[in-house]
Amino acid sequence: MTKIAIIYYSMYGHVAGFAESVKKGIEASGATCDIYQVAETLPEEVLGKMGAPPKKDHPVMTPEKMSEYDGFMFGISGRFGSVPAQMKAFMDSTGGLWQSGGLVGKAAGTFVSTGTQAGGQENCQVSMISFFAHQGMVFVPLGYVDPKVFTNDEAHGASAYGSGTLASSDGSRMPSELELAVGETHGKHFGGITAKLAA
Ligand SMILES: Cc1cc2nc3c(=O)[nH]c(=O)nc-3n(C[C@H](O)[C@H](O)[C@H](O)COP(=O)(O)O)c2cc1C
Repeated sequence: MTKIAIIYYSMYGHVAGFAESVKKGIEASGATCDIYQVAETLPEEVLGKMGAPPKKDHPVMTPEKMSEYDGFMFGISGRFGSVPAQMKAFMDSTGGLWQSGGLVGKAAGTFVSTGTQAGGQENCQVSMISFFAHQGMVFVPLGYVDPKVFTNDEAHGASAYGSGTLASSDGSRMPSELELAVGETHGKHFGGITAKLAA
């Protein structure tokens, strides 16, 4: 059976919650899916000042555990149009896999949360591609496989690169029905492509 891991960083819970929709889609494709988070790098005191709630109890991913999976969906909480330092720290811990070629040919996808519509959701995902390239991974974009990505009728966080949500500048907005549905389609699409790559 195809095995997929979701690996995310979430400070306020938007990405962590969105991951459940992506997981639902992955499982609908016939693959298994486990959700992990990357290790926090900020001290508790700073997290408290930033108003971050306690973490979900998803286990922390390690480079060693990655060898058990055929593909990875990375969930990104946007920072200045790019990935958070916590995700970068995780990527930087995978040097051994780079040396051994341990991730070569494995599928990689991305989903994202940003505060605002033009807050860099596409760039956050594009900035993961150099990591995928250096690891020899195969980036699987969402494209427009879900026609809802085309819509201009309401604000949403999805793009050709991957699914996503808009948290608003104060974090008060929760993922919309449209965004969650696209997240599920994204997971299903990613699961199907990962199965073909792993076959
Ligand atoms: C230091 C920092 C930088 C941020 N930079 C951006 C940004 O460039 N564009 C944007 O739209 N939102 C930005 N945000 C808002 C986050 O993307 C938002 O809090 C996040 O998407 C919420 O997801 P989460 O609850 O899963 O962490 C930033 C937040 C922080 C704390």
